[in-house]
Amino acid sequence: MKAFSLTALTLALVLSACGDKSDDSGSGAAAVDCSTDGLDGASLYSSSCAGCHGADGSGASGPSLEDAMPLHSDDEIRSVMENGAPGMPAFDSSLDCGEREAILDYLRSQHGQQGGAGSD
Ligand code: HEC
Repeated sequence: MKAFSLTALTLALVLSACGDKSDDSGSGAAAVDCSTDGLDGASLYSSSCAGCHGADGSGASGPSLEDAMPLHSDDEIRSVMENGAPGMPAFDSSLDCGEREAILDYLRSQHGQQGGAGSD
């Protein structure tokens, strides 16, 4: 009995997963819940990143983000946070999508957009 219902459940999950996949294609990254509502990018930055990149982003053991932000697209910064880099841990599990997005917003507000000259 138990084994049978588990099989049925598994089948249902597999089927619905397939359905989700075809629904998602084309809707892009916006479908993921990356809401920054109520999140403070500045304090997330200071607890997760400042130890290596400096409180003001000018760099410490890690490189200056003041210099890096104008050089990289949003997706490149997201990818570094998710996957890490040599000497930098991945934040894919320790920060959720919205928290990473709040840090990205904060860094943009401090150090400017890609191609920009920075805020100073
Ligand atoms: C343990 C230290 C450490 C922590 C914590 C850390 N980083 Fe890094 N980060 C580094 C190092 C070292 C590099 C350089 C990696 C390389 O040489 O490719 C780096 C690279 C980067 C880069 C690419 C810079 C460039 O010039 O291309 C970005 C963007 C970045 N980090 C953002 C962050 C953010 C945002 C956080 C917080 C969520 C964070 N880092 C936390 C050490 C750290």
